[in-house]
Amino acid sequence: MTADELRGKYIEFFVSKNHVQIQGKSLLPDNDPTVLFTTAGMHPLVPYLLGEEHPAGKRLVDYQKCIRTGDIDSVGDTSHLTFFEMLGNWSLGDYFKEGAIEMSFEFLTSGKWLGIPLEKLGVTVFAGEGEVPRDDESAAIWKKMGIPENRIARLPREDNWWGPAGTTGPCGPDSEMFYYVGDRPCGPDCKPGCSCGKWLEIWNDVFMQYNKNAEGVYEPLARKCVDTGMGIERTVTILNGKASVYDTEIFAPLIGAIEKAAGGYAYGSDAEKDKSARIISDHIRSAAFILGDPKAVSPSNVGAGYVLRRLVRRAMRHGRKLGMPLPLLSPIAAIVVDQFRGPYPELQENRDFIINELNREEEKFMETLQKGEHEFEKLLPGLLKNPRRIMSGRLAFKLYDTYGFPIELTEELAGEQGMKVDRKEFDEAFKKHQELSRAGGGQVFRGGLQDHGETATKYHTATHLLHKALRMVLGDHAAQKGSNITVERMRFDFSHGAPLTAEEIKRVEEIVNEQILRDLPVTMEVMSLEEAKSSGAIALFGEKYESRVKVYSIGDFSREVCGGPHVEHTGVMGRFKIQKEQSSSAGVRRIRAVLE
Ligand code: ALA
Repeated sequence: MTADELRGKYIEFFVSKNHVQIQGKSLLPDNDPTVLFTTAGMHPLVPYLLGEEHPAGKRLVDYQKCIRTGDIDSVGDTSHLTFFEMLGNWSLGDYFKEGAIEMSFEFLTSGKWLGIPLEKLGVTVFAGEGEVPRDDESAAIWKKMGIPENRIARLPREDNWWGPAGTTGPCGPDSEMFYYVGDRPCGPDCKPGCSCGKWLEIWNDVFMQYNKNAEGVYEPLARKCVDTGMGIERTVTILNGKASVYDTEIFAPLIGAIEKAAGGYAYGSDAEKDKSARIISDHIRSAAFILGDPKAVSPSNVGAGYVLRRLVRRAMRHGRKLGMPLPLLSPIAAIVVDQFRGPYPELQENRDFIINELNREEEKFMETLQKGEHEFEKLLPGLLKNPRRIMSGRLAFKLYDTYGFPIELTEELAGEQGMKVDRKEFDEAFKKHQELSRAGGGQVFRGGLQDHGETATKYHTATHLLHKALRMVLGDHAAQKGSNITVERMRFDFSHGAPLTAEEIKRVEEIVNEQILRDLPVTMEVMSLEEAKSSGAIALFGEKYESRVKVYSIGDFSREVCGGPHVEHTGVMGRFKIQKEQSSSAGVRRIRAVLE
């Protein structure tokens, strides 16, 4: 079965069960500061799982593009992916455990649908923990369907609980479905969920019953919902009896093109090269989907743009290792576009943008490599004086942080001089850095700036000045809807119903520049969210905050709840200029501005 067939069957099945097919959404979530990417099919549906009415009704089905980069460094083995597609069906206060399980069972086992033999299936249900009881109901329904008791495992919260997707939101106990690829159990306790590697998870029915709030408390939901997720790549792998996702028809055209570009090496003939081919194909899929998204970001040093840059550069490095000619990324990305133009027409619509951005980033990275190599040469005489022949991890991290020079390359260059890099020290420095710019399923530094560089920090302070100035000129309805900072410019989205007039733009610029000229001090205090609000600090509507927050004041001019960092005095910021003012979405305007 191909990915296209599986996608088609899933939708057809649930439509036949009175579900309405809805469109999958952007890979870059709207107004959710807790994650950088859409990490699951349920993600765009969070407000509805929490009680909002969905315009399409109570039974929904879709396929959703997802990115999880929590373990990007594991990509290269035979199973990890950063980009994947998730199939999902939802009940918003309609069917619950019985309906969900019966439909899952029918789709998995009926000859009309996936036709998986009963003896290949096993399931897990929630064992009960804390105030949430054991899920005997789901177990009984599975038994009624024909799953024998010895193929129903009861597992604790660690295994059988899903959500929330970010730090807060809907979650609940789940029941997972497994496909058995072994011939006999590994021991008396071998059940679904066993770590012997013979039980492969293919689907998850989540019984959304709680909302985890900002204080970490699980509040029961007024309306119980079902959220399910089936990963397309993994399911296609299993249904076709393949050992790895990279062995499926989904990856075949990409691996084939890499083999060709790498001078005819054959996938499967060299473990190191195979790993590189897997990294290249996975990372280019992610990059093509990020750049092909209607809300695309370009490679940058912050947020989703930073993750994109990492993906692209890592793919480049492995492409060079395989000896692939330049341009290396865009020809493979073009294959992804062709492959997915049916289910994701946005890829074809943004084809030129995808190709151009990849080519541009590739050129930039080649420059980085040359600069890094040059810097390394400058360091070399000093390094060679070290009798232990060890390069400090801090120095290697500096090359990485300042020039974007990958550690593997530093190690390679050091190796050529008979030296080693103190990898442990590097990893420690890297980990600290990662905590600030955590990607994908992880958390972002909420309300704060991920890139703590000098320029980005200035832009961050400018965001607060602009926010206040807009409220002064347009009125308090002009509230921040989002912002995006790179070292070259800032972008700021805010609610306002009409284009700004030339006068309004001029007035906003003047107000911001006045505050810069006044060289106002920027100060920070920590207080409770209540205190912050009653002290007049602006907190973003719909934003999720901790109970104690940082409040940044810019002189007497502005006061906002924010994670920082900011400049110490506005005088260092330079001159503020609005370059562009345009519509972002209905009722939301977007300003692009620079500090000159
Ligand atoms: N939201 C659930 C998952 O991602 C279905 O596994």
